[in-house]
Amino acid sequence: MPTKVEVVAGDIASFETPALVVNLFEGVSHPAGGTGAVDRALDGAITALIADGEIKGKLGEVTLIHALGRIPAARVVVAGLGKSNDFDAGSVRRVSGDVARFLRRKGVTGFATIAHGAGIGGLDAGECAQAIAEGTLLGLYKFDTYRSNGNGDSDEADNGIASVSIVEWDAARVDALAAGVSVGTALAEATMVARDLVNHPANVMTPTKMAEAAREVAEAVGLDLDVMDREGMSEHGMGAFLGVAQGSEEPPKLIVLTYRGDPDNPGNNLGLVGKGITFDTGGISLKPAANMEAMKGDMAGGASVIAAMRAIGTLKPRINVTGLIAATENMPGGRAQRPGDVVTAMNGKTIEVINTDAEGRLVLADALCYARSLGITRLVDVATLTGAMVVTLGKACTGMMGNSSDLAKEVSKAGDASGERFWELPMLEDYRELIRSDVADMKNTGGRQAGSITAAMLLREFAEDADWIHLDIAGTSTASSSKGHLVKGATGVPTRTLAQLAVNLAKER
Ligand code: BES
Ligand code: MN
Ligand code: ZN
Repeated sequence: MPTKVEVVAGDIASFETPALVVNLFEGVSHPAGGTGAVDRALDGAITALIADGEIKGKLGEVTLIHALGRIPAARVVVAGLGKSNDFDAGSVRRVSGDVARFLRRKGVTGFATIAHGAGIGGLDAGECAQAIAEGTLLGLYKFDTYRSNGNGDSDEADNGIASVSIVEWDAARVDALAAGVSVGTALAEATMVARDLVNHPANVMTPTKMAEAAREVAEAVGLDLDVMDREGMSEHGMGAFLGVAQGSEEPPKLIVLTYRGDPDNPGNNLGLVGKGITFDTGGISLKPAANMEAMKGDMAGGASVIAAMRAIGTLKPRINVTGLIAATENMPGGRAQRPGDVVTAMNGKTIEVINTDAEGRLVLADALCYARSLGITRLVDVATLTGAMVVTLGKACTGMMGNSSDLAKEVSKAGDASGERFWELPMLEDYRELIRSDVADMKNTGGRQAGSITAAMLLREFAEDADWIHLDIAGTSTASSSKGHLVKGATGVPTRTLAQLAVNLAKER
């Protein structure tokens, strides 16, 4: 049962609901606005708890007060917003997710909230409402498809939160808040599509299943879908992609979703290319057993591209966007490729396969070539590409590399709005020699040095003269614990940024 977020005009203190959410900045002893109104209705209970030191307003702090008949609401939650200087839409996303999970654990089926930060916080109403919708919906995300007894051993209560009302005193702001909720809901729903795809086990989420998921998205929001199989790949000379796929019995798929938001201007385009390795065993260069199960998530880049295409199809920016997902397993079968094999990609460039576990760059090489052959001149690829990325940046931000500082700025800007963060690594020419091969145009691994960058150096050979950015989400595609809008497991990163990027590029034209 999906949660519904809505905006209503009215007085928060007289709103009837199982729970009312108000807020407090750190250091404030006498709250104004909605929190002040509720405090007065509770005969000063909030100011008393502040004076007492129990409520400090720290970011992430959640305080429950039982109303005991003093107002129509059964309870009040005071959510800490942190220091007002550090406050932004990210704080609202964080608070909304934490509070929603807190109230679900209490067994509450709905709640009402004030628009955090739209007053003294300085956020505009739409931005604030969008962050509330995203934080709430994404924070409440659950994946329990495979639990036969429903909730199983999860510490989250089974009954869900059906509705969340943002209550706004100023009727003139209701339309802006509602617009923000609708964008936030579209982005959160798309992100949850990505999370589901990643959380499903690899025996279910095969390349064929990914293509079906893409078809559902295409039908839901009106996109064109084209799925290329092994035969089509051979016709196009995609030797790098096919080399990876040949070790698996599962048919590989190159999935292409097309959104035409500016059909009269084919030059106004963006290509999103996702790595869709539905399971990465490493191939003949087999991975160790420990944590190999996490490699069901090696299609997270592809999942975020399918999801972003859904959001783009919903938001309808004036730009043409093509999503390409290179989906296959990487298996050590009797037909599997061997270390030392040389493969030829669609653009004629040859690659010596030193390590069959460096497979993502091989499938992406052909997907990038194919995107170029479709006339796409601006490319962003997304991939759980290197373990080295997790070592470099951990889970706090996504590694970004590429050949265009303009497009890098656009991705950073879209990331600032979405709260998904990106950090650029240098694509210095010096790194190119690390993937020099004795027998082919390049080799698919560069040794221990700068592993994330050498992977990007290989991809660069296939983006050719397009403006191109590579996002390595090996660290950021999963979360190890629940916090704010993130829930343990798949994050759906960078779905919201990709959609925002398309919206921004459309506006800037
Ligand atoms: N899918 C992995 C990268 C990965 C590792 C993602 C850990 C998420 C968590 C990728 O295909 C891979 O195996 N990369 C190798 C490359 C190496 C052989 C050059 C790696 O990083 O070890
Ligand atoms: Mn691998
Ligand atoms: Zn991989």
